[in-house]
Amino acid sequence: MDLKNSVLKKVLPKHIAIIMDGNGRWAKQKGMLRAFGHENGTKSVKQTVEACAELGVENLTLYAFSTENWNRPKLEVQTLMKLLVSSLKKEIKTLQENNIKLSAIGSLNTLPKKVYKELFEVIESTAQNTRMTLTLALSYGSREEILNTVKEISIKVKNNIISAENIDESIINEHLYTQNLPDVDLLIRTSGEQRISNFLLWQIAYAELYFTSVLWPDFTKQHLYEAIIEYQKRERRFGKTSEQLS
Ligand code: IPE
Ligand code: IPE
Ligand code: MG
Repeated sequence: MDLKNSVLKKVLPKHIAIIMDGNGRWAKQKGMLRAFGHENGTKSVKQTVEACAELGVENLTLYAFSTENWNRPKLEVQTLMKLLVSSLKKEIKTLQENNIKLSAIGSLNTLPKKVYKELFEVIESTAQNTRMTLTLALSYGSREEILNTVKEISIKVKNNIISAENIDESIINEHLYTQNLPDVDLLIRTSGEQRISNFLLWQIAYAELYFTSVLWPDFTKQHLYEAIIEYQKRERRFGKTSEQLS
């Protein structure tokens, strides 16, 4: 059976977020250095981006580097940053051809200059694209994001721009890095770990969670279709009863 066609028969998630995990273990299993895993992980990124665009998924958010990942060995951080620059350079063409808009969330000003510059070149040159928004979470931490939001709103309250009584969920949404994105419908994590690791805590409040033991460099379009099919089987009740929904 063609998995892609099955996926297209039902309602698609509007926003898929992925914790791309398992590069290091994948490399270790092969007796290689962790960097080899990261390099091969970029192939899965390409596959996933293409698959989502082809299906018609409107938003894809990929966790590429967390605030906690800065604590990894210096050499590994350097490798990841270099890989980011080379991937951006290489994939700008794919993004243009597929009409994909690139965006980024995180404390982007902490990224090395080279990464920042390349990132914003691609963001600017794809800004008019409309088929799908691909958001990279880079130096991203959800608690930091929420903390910044609280600070920004507090300053606005202090300066009488917002009144405290009027703070609601939409005001919080507008101050998060993800301000232009809808809530996450489907969160996928590869590598068998079943945790969130400081990713989109506010935005996944009602997301369907999907964990797979597949290591990220082995993740293909078919695995993505399987995850979406599983999502499509679930009943999203949002607190209501099953009877209310039918
Ligand atoms: C995910 O793979 C990539 C990043 C976190 C940057 P890991 O590097 O975490 O791989 P494992 O979890 O050690 O196998
Ligand atoms: C989460 O993976 C971050 C990314 C995928 C970028 P980690 O491998 O860093 O998470 P932990 O340490 O296992 O929670
Ligand atoms: Mg990991």
